[in-house]
Amino acid sequence: MSRKLVAAQVGCGAFAAAQHGPNLTRNKNISKIKWACDISDKNLKNYSEKFKAEKITKSFEEAVTDPEVDIVMIATSHDFHVPIIESAAAHGKHIFCEKPLAMNEEQAYKIIKAVRKNKVKLCVDYMRRMAPALVALKSEWKKHKENPKRQPWRYVDPCRLEKNIVFEEEKCTDFQVRVQDESSSYRLVHLDPFKGGGLIIGEAVHWLDLSSWLFENDRPVEIRAWGSARMRYGIYVVFQSGNTATITFTPNGSFDYPKEQFEIACDGALFRSEFYVENQYYGRPGVERETFKLQRDPCPEIGAQGGFAGFMEKKKKYLNKDENSYKLWETLQANHGYEEIFDGFVDSVLKDTKPPCNELDGFRATLLGELAMKSIMFNQPVPVPVEKWDYYIEL
Ligand SMILES: NC(=O)c1ccc[n+]([C@@H]2O[C@H](COP(=O)([O-])OP(=O)(O)OC[C@H]3O[C@@H](n4cnc5c(N)ncnc54)[C@H](O)[C@@H]3O)[C@@H](O)[C@H]2O)c1
Repeated sequence: MSRKLVAAQVGCGAFAAAQHGPNLTRNKNISKIKWACDISDKNLKNYSEKFKAEKITKSFEEAVTDPEVDIVMIATSHDFHVPIIESAAAHGKHIFCEKPLAMNEEQAYKIIKAVRKNKVKLCVDYMRRMAPALVALKSEWKKHKENPKRQPWRYVDPCRLEKNIVFEEEKCTDFQVRVQDESSSYRLVHLDPFKGGGLIIGEAVHWLDLSSWLFENDRPVEIRAWGSARMRYGIYVVFQSGNTATITFTPNGSFDYPKEQFEIACDGALFRSEFYVENQYYGRPGVERETFKLQRDPCPEIGAQGGFAGFMEKKKKYLNKDENSYKLWETLQANHGYEEIFDGFVDSVLKDTKPPCNELDGFRATLLGELAMKSIMFNQPVPVPVEKWDYYIEL
């Protein structure tokens, strides 16, 4: 496709206004937002005025069947994805869909079928896989795995050297994700089992997707989870090669401190990312630290040294003010990869290539989320069946 794309936005709530609208107006390959569609008058008005949508409607059918529209952006609540995607795909529209793509396998099956049958692109907004800090973390880990460089001071027991012993466990990589959040901020719909699905299907899917992306062709074989699927849990995923991913999530933390930390431990080295703003690389000579720009920085003069310390200084400026400071603080945005994944989707439409996170990737995160919830329910590990991972659909 060689012309600029026309967009329709379905679901014009908080997230569409925070990321989809700015992305659509920023990307040079988008000519206009023709439709804004929402069932809420207030959100429709807010979005269409702010992002200059040409037309408004409460009916998604009207927006996604318009022959002029090329791409459909979906940011409704999770449970509405299937009918919107089925209709958009049947009319040849390419789709950018919020996570989770589907709340269960049945929904995912319908979505994959619709997208493949109609040969349209679908990209799921698991944007963490495009966050510059995490892309750099993966790249440093891969370099080390393929060509391990060790610190000259690394001590290896002489007996081991003599007998050339390396244990199986030492050949694997362990990925750890530590998440802390403040549950008083959650909208209650997220905790409804059928509308929001709880925070495994609504949130942990991000880190489950990240684990699959990190280990690429390595298939998960077993998953074990504990706690509450609603909002306080741990998940342990074992991959075929022996690699593991561990995600721990507490809702009892504080906005005073960043939400996520990532660590990859591999062959005497540790690669660490602090909330998308700073990476540290330990045990491998050469690069030791990298810092990353924020997506939005309303106060570049504060914490100008960047990295984690700089980010915390900026954060304190806002959070210490008064009880309304939360709104100000929302304007401070570490780079989670929102712009990168959207631009990647647009490129995939224009160049007819694979989107950064396609329908199968989207389904796999839902599958792992569903299995994690099953593991909690039965209080035991559950297998990841090969036929679910390598999903076949007869069209
Ligand atoms: N990728 C991310 O990091 C990220 C972050 C936040 C939210 N999200 C996702 O974005 C989606 C929206 O979240 P939000 O926080 O903006 O919620 P929201 O409630 O603010 O917005 C959802 C909007 O969809 C509208 N809507 C619901 N059903 C509709 C329908 N059938 N047709 C048209 N409009 C409809 C609602 O009226 C509402 O305005 C969720 O799926 C959420 O998981 C993703």
